[in-house]
Amino acid sequence: MTKFSLLILLTWNFILFHSGKGQHDCQDVSDDFFAAQIILSFASWDHNDVKEYIAIYYYNPGFKPGDKIGLHVNDTARIQPFTKYYYPSTMNGFVYFTDVDTSLLTYESQSIYQQQCLGYSASWIRNGTIRKTSCLSTHPDWMHQRRALLETESFLSILIPGTHNSGSYLKRPPETLIEKFTATQDGSILNQLIMGARYFDLRPGKQDNKYWIFHGDYLMTPLQQTIDDVIQFMNNTQEIVCLHFKEFPHGFETSKDHLKFIRYLRKQFEPHLLSTKSASWASTFKRIWNYNRRLIISYDHHIYPPIYKMWPPITQMWGNVQSIDELRSYLALAESKLVYPRASMAELTMDVHGVVTHAVAEAFGLDHTSLRKMGSSIGPYITQWYNEFFYHNASIVAVDYLNATGIVEVALEWNDRKFSPCYDSYVNLMEQNDIKNKFTIISG
Ligand SMILES: *[C@@H]1O[C@H](CO)[C@@H](O)[C@H](O)[C@H]1NC(C)=O
Ligand SMILES: *[C@@H]1O[C@H](CO)[C@@H](O)[C@H](O)[C@H]1NC(C)=O
Ligand SMILES: *[C@@H]1O[C@H](CO)[C@@H](O)[C@H](O)[C@H]1NC(C)=O
Ligand SMILES: *[C@@H]1O[C@H](CO)[C@@H](O)[C@H](O)[C@H]1NC(C)=O
Ligand SMILES: *[C@@H]1O[C@H](CO)[C@@H](O)[C@H](O)[C@H]1NC(C)=O
Repeated sequence: MTKFSLLILLTWNFILFHSGKGQHDCQDVSDDFFAAQIILSFASWDHNDVKEYIAIYYYNPGFKPGDKIGLHVNDTARIQPFTKYYYPSTMNGFVYFTDVDTSLLTYESQSIYQQQCLGYSASWIRNGTIRKTSCLSTHPDWMHQRRALLETESFLSILIPGTHNSGSYLKRPPETLIEKFTATQDGSILNQLIMGARYFDLRPGKQDNKYWIFHGDYLMTPLQQTIDDVIQFMNNTQEIVCLHFKEFPHGFETSKDHLKFIRYLRKQFEPHLLSTKSASWASTFKRIWNYNRRLIISYDHHIYPPIYKMWPPITQMWGNVQSIDELRSYLALAESKLVYPRASMAELTMDVHGVVTHAVAEAFGLDHTSLRKMGSSIGPYITQWYNEFFYHNASIVAVDYLNATGIVEVALEWNDRKFSPCYDSYVNLMEQNDIKNKFTIISG
């Protein structure tokens, strides 16, 4: 038996053992691994821009010296599976930016609507035994999977992962200066949905009689791609999805332009559109599932008389900040404001001055930053902040470069915890471990 198959066997025994126990049994609090977490994401960090590497966020208030973390890379036709070990020296609040790249990522494209592990998983290991495992995973049906838990909840009571400037995606690393400062995602809308995002920030515009997604003044992707992706996803799942149309940066001069656009959206999305006559932000998911209309369009432009298929705007809490510290302070403020419905925009912004400085620096070969690099450098911080501090009040959280954060895992885990009888135990554990200033990054 190889080391790896032994690991799989151990993992399997662990899963069997734990699924036999009541999920809501808070006696588990005495288990050192009760609140242990490992969340995998990928980041380009300060390696070259093309390759992506696995980042491991880990947290365990029950940590003991000697505990280790194994990163397992699955069997593939090409190479043998392998495990790399990391040795945390304190309990939590760390991210390893590993040197394991994502070239062995596996994805079954025939079954995209089933949750799948993408070939990488990590475990907490104590004394030779795997105690907690999690894999880098898709989440195409997380809401419906949690139907029993979520049916009494609403958009206002759970944490919803989303993306910022969702249609500004480029399925390869940015090359030109404009691409570096306009691309905010690297997966299509369908891919973002499959990875678990349910809120989409979209800025539509019209050019040459065709609708496009814009970022500022720049054309990014044809709107039709977004529409097709969303319809395909709605057709194949039971998930509840919110599209937020705003800004209308180009070609929307009069209310007639808006009415025409709304007619177009209604025609495209008709069987899926939920009306404000049937439901509101506070409606339970059960009510929405009963209507079997699960698409909400929040329309950020005043229309009179109201069109019931268009929902009122969501307040975006956007800090327009340029540094990690400022972003954290801003989000702490945003998450204590309790404005509903709200979307916290958890990303850095490059200001005009920054872009110009960057252009000059790049011309002299001094600097190679991009929104992608910024996104992958703050991704793990967002994982940590929401997992350790902001989970309590968080609502919609919209990020750049979804893959670079663990926001989906954090949202799912805290939604599960929030409605379990163990919630207070989790909160107490988090608060006992006041680690707010101990975040460190380790490369290698
Ligand atoms: C490893 O591959 C097996 C078989 O394809 C699959 O069932 C499992 O989920 C994979 N594990 C990870 C962590 O991706
Ligand atoms: C590790 O396992 C051995 C054998 O079961 C046991 O004697 C030892 O106390 C354990 N050590 C720790 C730190 O749990
Ligand atoms: C996540 O990364 C994978 C692999 O690089 C890519 O195919 C996918 O489009 C990315 N998804 C998102 C939502 O960025
Ligand atoms: C979605 O379902 C409708 C009704 O069954 C069908 O007409 C349409 O072609 C489907 N579209 C996609 C993209 O799957
Ligand atoms: C949640 O919001 C309330 C009301 O603003 C605030 O008093 C509280 O500190 C917040 N909780 C956390 C954990 O931030």
